[in-house]
Amino acid sequence: MKKEITLKLNGYETTVAVEPHEKLLDVLRDKLGVKSPKYGCGRGECGACSVLLNGKSVRTCIMYAVEADGQEIVTVEGLEKDGLTPLQESFLAHNSFQCGFCAPGIIISATELLTSNPHPGEEEIREAIAGNLCRCTGYGSVVDAIVDVTRSE
Ligand code: FES
Ligand code: FES
Repeated sequence: MKKEITLKLNGYETTVAVEPHEKLLDVLRDKLGVKSPKYGCGRGECGACSVLLNGKSVRTCIMYAVEADGQEIVTVEGLEKDGLTPLQESFLAHNSFQCGFCAPGIIISATELLTSNPHPGEEEIREAIAGNLCRCTGYGSVVDAIVDVTRSE
């Protein structure tokens, strides 16, 4: 039986009817048109589906949508204010992605880190993105982009 849930999604209150078994990832992508979270592994292992839930990154492929009722969700679509964030600009400047499939999840993890710790060391950066699998870049350009933004802020 469907249940109506209300989210604050990227700054807007949003109500949607969901089945009890529906994953948050499917609701975001298929019912709410938010496409930045990606379906990678579907098992909570790759980080491609990450969003910020009340400021903390969560894996939406293993979370039921009903669990998000009343919560605040931010996806990459909601990060921009007046254009791209400095972090996003830095990723572009460093060519930090190739296919880009991992990009939204990594941006979410890096945003979470920089919000709580604006000047992390490289080890802290690597630890923060350790749960985001990228099969293209080798992570060097990703780490460089995050390091750079910590220096410019
Ligand atoms: S798709 Fe969710 S962690 Fe891989
Ligand atoms: S850029 Fe292709 S998976 Fe990361």
